[in-house]
Amino acid sequence: MSGGAVMKLQAVCKYFPITRGLLRVKVGEVRAVDGVSLELRRGATLGVVGESGSGKTTLAKVAVRIYRPTSGRVWLGGQEIGALPVSQLLALRRRIQMVYQDPTSSLNPRHSLRRILEEPLVVHRLGGRRERERRVAEILERVELPADFRFRHPSHLSGGQRQRVAIARALILEPEVVVLDEPTSALDVSVQAKILALLRRLQQRTQAGYLFITHNLAVVSGMATHIVVMYLGQAVEYAPTAELFGRPRHPYTRALLSAIPVLTAEERGLIPEYRRLDGEIPSSACIPRGCRFHPRCPEAHACCSREVPPEVAVGPDHTVRCWLYAGGGDDR
Ligand SMILES: Nc1ncnc2c1ncn2[C@@H]1O[C@H](COP(=O)(O)OP(=O)(O)O)[C@@H](O)[C@H]1O
Ligand SMILES: [Mg+2]
Repeated sequence: MSGGAVMKLQAVCKYFPITRGLLRVKVGEVRAVDGVSLELRRGATLGVVGESGSGKTTLAKVAVRIYRPTSGRVWLGGQEIGALPVSQLLALRRRIQMVYQDPTSSLNPRHSLRRILEEPLVVHRLGGRRERERRVAEILERVELPADFRFRHPSHLSGGQRQRVAIARALILEPEVVVLDEPTSALDVSVQAKILALLRRLQQRTQAGYLFITHNLAVVSGMATHIVVMYLGQAVEYAPTAELFGRPRHPYTRALLSAIPVLTAEERGLIPEYRRLDGEIPSSACIPRGCRFHPRCPEAHACCSREVPPEVAVGPDHTVRCWLYAGGGDDR
């Protein structure tokens, strides 16, 4: 792994079988994640952006080893974790944690916050009662919740407060990597901004790598150093954040950018005008031939429906999977 990387995915695929009948005969497969490679650095945030159904949650679950990849490799630090046996997964959970979109379903409503936050320490046998109490108090303070909240239950908290608890629970084990799957999508815009700011402050302190997943490019713009754009299970563009916003190459990235709501003419001026997208994302069970994006692409040519585009480097740290940049396709 190159210097500074805490996590690396190489050509990761996750396919789900489609079965029919009592005998569960396999009749096809859903290619939810189909050959994704990425690298996350210590203390940095990598944004993963794509529409609903593009495979983001599946990718997150492969990254934290909830799912075993169908093929491809996953490393955490120098250790390959993709093929770890179940017996070694508990030790892994200390090092990589996930925060889900909906804090209501990820927190046990019958438990107090103290019990919820203490649980990871108990499971991993960290510290005695006193020490655990100290760490619960400390983490509550870090996520900026009052100390006496430890006696409350999740149902007595607002959505934003619940997400703070979910973040506290993920961070109490001091993981090297935190995978955040749409962590603010269920929250009001004003609460969203506060949670994003909190996540940034916590990262400065812990130097954890964040894999930040969202369907909303605007949300990651202030968080991520680099962004991966996903479409139907594949990474179609990867670039540093400023470069992706300033010089987007893939027609899909351009369409996502023009869909960002803007408030003022000034903001509009910062985002180049591109054509908006028509149609829905197809199903991962029925992936179009050639370039997966061609049925919706405003710039598609004949070759795009025939052949899969290669990944092309268009800058030092910028890659795109599109025939427009491959110099291929004589009939474009
Ligand atoms: N457990 C599963 N079994 C079968 N198909 C699944 C499963 N999980 C996700 N999928 C399918 O994989 C594709 C990607 O889903 P998902 O990873 O949830 O995308 P996203 O988080 O970007 O919305 C979708 O077509 C979805 O229906
Ligand atoms: Mg999802």
